[in-house]
Amino acid sequence: MLKANAKPNLEKALYVLQETAYAEHGSALEMLTACKTVKKDTHVYGYFMHAKDEYSHTKTFLSLLGSRAQLLSNRGARKWRYNSYGLIRKGYISQEGFLIEMMKLKDFIAFVYTNELLAKESFKNILKLVGPESRDGLLIKNIMNDELRHHGMAKEFFLKNYPKLQPWQLRLYKLRETIKNKGRKLYIKNLNFLEKVLQPINFTLAFIVGSLLLHLNPNEFKREGKNLMEISTNSIL
Ligand SMILES: [Fe+2]
Ligand SMILES: [Fe+2]
Repeated sequence: MLKANAKPNLEKALYVLQETAYAEHGSALEMLTACKTVKKDTHVYGYFMHAKDEYSHTKTFLSLLGSRAQLLSNRGARKWRYNSYGLIRKGYISQEGFLIEMMKLKDFIAFVYTNELLAKESFKNILKLVGPESRDGLLIKNIMNDELRHHGMAKEFFLKNYPKLQPWQLRLYKLRETIKNKGRKLYIKNLNFLEKVLQPINFTLAFIVGSLLLHLNPNEFKREGKNLMEISTNSIL
């Protein structure tokens, strides 16, 4: 049984770990799609290895989520169940398509470049949450190294192919992505708020429908042996 003051910390950790698992899974799918889209062998290999890393990060975050959810009751843990539909619902994958399909290649690489750096920064907070010296902390540190490597690869590609791009333009990309990330968090908060508001209404409606069904006699719905021409026009048959 958890101590009363441990519950809010656990809830926060579960929230952060679940959201990060979604973000990692989203990145894995983006990279896999990029891998299928590009033509050059070295690029295909690069995106494939990147996708593989992101899948492995997703697995790590789901295992950290699972080990903490075990501390809750079955009912409490249900809220933290991972569902890949959440990728679109929470905005980690766009309904319109994958980024490589919607963006110019230059913007896509800039997106990877800035997001890998932002990911590494946000992992610093996760490291604090799980404890930097713990076994889980070591897993997070390994992921941070991977993200830095991804960032380095995107940076190298970027500077080689777009050497005229100035550092301030990259900073602008970073600012744009930071604002987008904040916008998505706000969207998720609003969605959660709406869910809380609508849940009692949904339960009430389900209760009313359930009560009505209790008073219906299923035999009334049988048509065998009945002259349908004699049934009242108001009948629900
Ligand atoms: Fe990752
Ligand atoms: Fe990454």
